Amino acid sequence: MQTDIGKKAAGEKAAEYIKPGMTVGLGTGSTAYYAILRIGELVRAGMEIKAVATSEQSEQLAREQQIPIIPFDKVEKIDIDIDGADEADAQLQLIKGGGGALLREKIIAVAAKEMLVVMDESKLVKQLGKFPLPVEIATFAWELTFKQLAASGANPVLRLKDNNRFVTDNGNYILDCRYQKIHNAAALEAQLNSVPGVVENGLFLHYASKLIIGYQDGTVREIT
Ligand code: A5P
Repeated sequence: MQTDIGKKAAGEKAAEYIKPGMTVGLGTGSTAYYAILRIGELVRAGMEIKAVATSEQSEQLAREQQIPIIPFDKVEKIDIDIDGADEADAQLQLIKGGGGALLREKIIAVAAKEMLVVMDESKLVKQLGKFPLPVEIATFAWELTFKQLAASGANPVLRLKDNNRFVTDNGNYILDCRYQKIHNAAALEAQLNSVPGVVENGLFLHYASKLIIGYQDGTVREIT
């Protein structure tokens, strides 16, 4: 993964919020990556924490970093979740799922007491929607779910990887929905959730407690 100054600055700043004894949610993507590396350094220097991961990719990275991953039946609390975003606005509303991990990411975000969003400056937007909204759908009769969303104006595209259908860690497909501008995110979320076949959508409207934004000069700004 290429070094990116803004992403690295944000990821490393987020790790400063971790205290001994905490259970930490580890996000997914190229910015959360830097947080996980820094958390690994803290652990190897003696800080005792536990962690849960939002994807198989992040779990593997955490294990390489010697971060103790605990099974979900042993989780009593999640103190902090550190995760990236594809877009965020100043009201702390997010689009996530560019990496395909939105379902696990949302489950962890809801369970966490705090969610720190790590991102570079390019992710901060006035209005959500330019980034296509990822919607995770069941594979069963996915063509019908596709039609339902198309009829509602979602302009969906089935996500592919290497010319094959992209399959999430949960065995589902993703439709990337090109709204361009999302005027009423809460209404859109309710509408998407009402479609049978939709497993989860990438709108994270009420979970983030802080945006940690890294800039190309290495500085960091926080929005709470
Ligand atoms: C993963 O499914 C996503 O929600 C990521 O958190 C998001 O795509 C941000 O990733 P980057 O930090 O790589 O841009």
